[in-house]
Amino acid sequence: MNKKEIIDLLLYDVALEHSAIIQYLYNVFLIGDPEITVEIESIARQEMRHLKWFAQKVVELGGRVSLKRVEEAIKLGESWEEMLKNDVNAEEEAIKIYSSQLEIVKDDSVKKLLDRVINDEMRHRDEFSELLENLKQKSVEERTKSGELDPEIVAIMNKLLQKEYRLILDHLYHFFHSKTWQEKDTSLDIAIESMVHMGELGEKLGEMGAMPDLSLPQAQHFKGYSSEEILEDIAEEEKAKSAYDEIAKKVTNEELKKLFLWIEKHEEHHAQRLKELLRRLNKFTVGSLIDKNKKE
Ligand SMILES: [Fe+2]
Ligand SMILES: [Fe+2]
Ligand SMILES: [Fe+2]
Repeated sequence: MNKKEIIDLLLYDVALEHSAIIQYLYNVFLIGDPEITVEIESIARQEMRHLKWFAQKVVELGGRVSLKRVEEAIKLGESWEEMLKNDVNAEEEAIKIYSSQLEIVKDDSVKKLLDRVINDEMRHRDEFSELLENLKQKSVEERTKSGELDPEIVAIMNKLLQKEYRLILDHLYHFFHSKTWQEKDTSLDIAIESMVHMGELGEKLGEMGAMPDLSLPQAQHFKGYSSEEILEDIAEEEKAKSAYDEIAKKVTNEELKKLFLWIEKHEEHHAQRLKELLRRLNKFTVGSLIDKNKKE
């Protein structure tokens, strides 16, 4: 196996973890029993760590990360039972794939990584099986629905959810490929906070009895950190801030209003963090130009 083949294999694993995360998030949003969702959420967080490890290995080997998904691997379900069955299957499939990779890969560090991830997936399979066994027959329809569904609010929330998802992917990409710790720190913080926002929006949509839109967002602008890129990111955050402000004014439900205002404040901070990064980058660029001139 040459380096390119190992990188491709790892990129497939990144996509597979990404798919598992999305499948489990759907379940977290649609299953109305907190005793179950708390467990699934914790498993989804471990899949995020797997995604991060595989992606970092790609970078280590000199590759570029792409944050795709294996669409056909994402399986939903009509009932909670069906969802949990699909989760057990997803884990079994992952174990099968990683085990077969373990046999063909020669690179020792990749082998160790696969071995570690397989160990986790086996535990997940058992945890999902246990959840399935303990499940009292409930169906999606039995969810507690809070209030009337307002299609306009649902549409706006799904648009915001999609925006958060896109920001997560963008900032994760920055996190994997940026060079300085300031860049990495800023992008990871924004990615994690966007995950929190996406989670809150999805949960609220589920509670309302609406379907969260977790399709893969288009138009990801995967570039490195440059002044132009950061300026675009700042504009994105400012747009998000005003979008949350607008929807906060629109809703009558106090709990929703509070949530949107809370997120709005975060978006303001994100814009500030990016502005700091921009200042730092510009100073650095000007500084290194002066150095270069001195040498010449
Ligand atoms: Fe995983
Ligand atoms: Fe897993
Ligand atoms: Fe956000």
